[in-house]
Amino acid sequence: MKILGIETSCDETAAAVVQDGRLLLSNVIASSVDLHAAYGGVVPEIAARSHIESIIPVLKEALSTAKTSWDDIDAIAVTKGPGLIGSLLVGVMTARTLAITKNKPLYGVNHVEAHVYSNFITDTKLPNYQLNQTAPTFPCLALIVSGGHTQLVLFKGHGDYKILGQTRDDAVGEAFDKVAKILGLPYPGGPSVAHAALKGDPTSVKLPTAKLDNPYDFSFSGLKTAVLRASQTLVGADYTLPSSQLPELLNEGQKANLAASFQSTAVRTLVEGLSRATDKYAPKSVVIAGGVAASPALRAQLKAALPLEPIYPDMKLCTDNAAMIAAAAYYRQTVDKQADPRNLGVFPSLSM
Ligand code: KG4
Ligand code: ZN
Repeated sequence: MKILGIETSCDETAAAVVQDGRLLLSNVIASSVDLHAAYGGVVPEIAARSHIESIIPVLKEALSTAKTSWDDIDAIAVTKGPGLIGSLLVGVMTARTLAITKNKPLYGVNHVEAHVYSNFITDTKLPNYQLNQTAPTFPCLALIVSGGHTQLVLFKGHGDYKILGQTRDDAVGEAFDKVAKILGLPYPGGPSVAHAALKGDPTSVKLPTAKLDNPYDFSFSGLKTAVLRASQTLVGADYTLPSSQLPELLNEGQKANLAASFQSTAVRTLVEGLSRATDKYAPKSVVIAGGVAASPALRAQLKAALPLEPIYPDMKLCTDNAAMIAAAAYYRQTVDKQADPRNLGVFPSLSM
């Protein structure tokens, strides 16, 4: 079964064709990230306009790379939420129109759930893709770490899961992005903080970790503020110094040390939560999903801490993509009803 996936929840316009939830036939992503970099974060209006410009060429490329005609497509899957309302609307309206005109079944997919399904795409025939042989088995513990979400979820089966814990404030990717802004590093913050951290000492700046009642919950807002305070102290200023002045006052060595200390503390928080849950629930598999799954520091700390090797998506499938949307729709067919192409809506704050 070939499913065409469409993803437009944030700043990536993506389309992909996935066969039987696993075989990646195409994976096309047009990002408007460069347009947002000047603003230090995603500008919703710019993102929506960019989706409108890119969606048709991206879809055409996804079909042609997959050497697939419309006759071969069995269903269309689209992100219905969570995400930016204007961005979601472009994908959903495109998918609805195609479902009607091409007469295909339509599935509305939860973006956060879909990140987990990046790990089911095991056979990627495109050049430069690594084969990820091990498909997740249930019960499966998932750590979902993206720019919008930080959740620990125990899956007993497709659509049968329990959220063990989540962030009380900022998502971990969001904390990376905000710390990057404090240090004057480019957006998106994850890769730029990781890069700066390579030259820093992770033990140089003492940063706090939150103590929460639920052992599987997370909190990153205090950590981000601690980086701000440490930065102000390092440049000899007090708490009233606006953060916008820090990038030019901090030297490269201080930025590297702050980046390394922040990254190591944030990652340790994730690893400790996941380790506790792994000990308690003894899952058959552990999967990491979302943009922060690309973090080399996270991968290294997890390797040392967990009793079993976690499954990661292919690097290109860690951040937002449409292949995961198609894979999620495939595996969730038994639990999800088909969407009505005449009235599928968008759900900006859809939760799991
Ligand atoms: O899953 P994603 O593409 O979008 C959302 O659904 O949010 O995740 C994007 C997030 C950004 O916050 C970005 O800074 C973070 O993933 N990220 C990383 C790395 N690469 C991307 N965070 C830490 N280390 C990385 N190497
Ligand atoms: Zn995402």
